[in-house]
Amino acid sequence: MVLPLSLLSLLWASTYLRSTHASRQSLIVTNNSKAGLAWPNGDFVDIQQFTKTGKVSWYYTWGPIGVDTTDIEFVPMLWGADQVDQFTSSINRTLQRTGATAVLGMNEPQETGQSNLTPEQGVAMWTAYLEPLKSQGVRLGSPAPSGAPSGKQWLLDWLGACGNNCTVDFIALHWYDVNATKFQEYLEDFHSTFQRPLWVTEWTCQNFNNATAQCSPEDIIAFMNQTQSFMDSTLWVERYAWFGAMENLQGVNPEDGLMTSTGKINSLGMQYINESSTSSATPSIPPSAIIPSLAFPVSRNPALFCAIYCLVFLSGFLS
Ligand SMILES: *[C@@H]1O[C@H](CO)[C@@H](O)[C@H](O)[C@H]1NC(C)=O
Ligand SMILES: *[C@@H]1O[C@H](CO)[C@@H](O)[C@H](O)[C@H]1NC(C)=O
Ligand SMILES: *[C@@H]1O[C@H](CO)[C@@H](O)[C@H](O)[C@H]1NC(C)=O
Ligand SMILES: *[C@@H]1O[C@H](CO)[C@@H](O)[C@H](O)[C@H]1NC(C)=O
Ligand SMILES: *[C@@H]1O[C@H](CO)[C@@H](O)[C@H](O)[C@H]1NC(C)=O
Ligand SMILES: *[C@@H]1O[C@H](CO)[C@@H](O)[C@H](O)[C@H]1NC(C)=O
Ligand SMILES: *[C@@H]1O[C@H](CO)[C@@H](O)[C@H](O)[C@H]1NC(C)=O
Repeated sequence: MVLPLSLLSLLWASTYLRSTHASRQSLIVTNNSKAGLAWPNGDFVDIQQFTKTGKVSWYYTWGPIGVDTTDIEFVPMLWGADQVDQFTSSINRTLQRTGATAVLGMNEPQETGQSNLTPEQGVAMWTAYLEPLKSQGVRLGSPAPSGAPSGKQWLLDWLGACGNNCTVDFIALHWYDVNATKFQEYLEDFHSTFQRPLWVTEWTCQNFNNATAQCSPEDIIAFMNQTQSFMDSTLWVERYAWFGAMENLQGVNPEDGLMTSTGKINSLGMQYINESSTSSATPSIPPSAIIPSLAFPVSRNPALFCAIYCLVFLSGFLS
């Protein structure tokens, strides 16, 4: 999916420069905590709303920099060519600081609107920036193709072009459509084709073939239930992340959102984290732990946001 990369880069940079945390403990991912968050929100949205049940045990940000307000496992990613500088200048520190156990490859490489790489360019990027991380003990996830038919072919071509030079510990993939059984069949096909565990790093109930035939809220509840249960009970699906945990779904059916337009977890979000809407689970970290400077009014005001974070960003260079 398309992301506001310039905004995110600023966010990542400011997060990186602000970070002074000592290394963190990662939770172990179990059969009941494969759920993750594809999280483009930085620290603007309270991530702890989603982690309090223990169902969600990891997150990624479509980039190499995590957020400060959670201790669940961060999985860095090299999105594509535009992120190479940021990735190489931060990845060692991130691996040390967060104890990340896995790193994700490029985002939807076969889509011209996404990382837009030929299989050969994908090989070059992988061998330059990802494969060397094996020596630091992390597991590596393949580039994650979109669910278009060209996706599987791109991965086959990429693996072929890589020969033995790419250590692919698991296959990452995205899937957007409306039929939960088809989703299951797609995963089974990827698993039998690539003979590796899978991470579904984006999936949701979204019709890209017919814009007027989108899932109703009831369809989405049933679709999430069926697909998530399937993955929870399938050993070779290691992790997954729904699209999306964000206020604005960027063209995807807004009913698929896990939060309101003001960043509060909604009933679908509660279903995702296995929280009953009547339960009153308490956050594991008190809200006061959230960095005060990221309070609501600042995050909703782009000018103020930039005034503060551009300064933080610049002071990083000047100091
Ligand atoms: C997950 O469940 C499978 C059986 O469905 C079991 O063999 C495996 O040990 C479980 N893994 C964990 C981490 O609990
Ligand atoms: C959901 O939570 C309940 C406890 O509230 C637990 O028994 C159950 O195993 C959980 N299910 C999943 C799929 O995580
Ligand atoms: C990252 O660490 C590895 C292994 O310690 C080292 O070979 C590599 O040069 C480092 N990269 C950067 C950019 O510092
Ligand atoms: C694999 O790497 C070796 C050593 O860098 C190189 O000589 C070879 O051409 C590479 N193979 C492929 C298929 O890229
Ligand atoms: C969903 O996909 C399955 C398997 O391809 C198919 O049998 C079923 O008819 C589909 N359901 C709908 C409502 O189209
Ligand atoms: C798209 O969906 C609408 C509503 O379900 C339906 O009426 C229409 O025939 C569909 N169009 C195509 C090309 O399938
Ligand atoms: C999910 O499906 C199961 C079995 O079909 C059902 O018992 C459960 O109530 C459903 N959960 C939700 C949130 O719809």
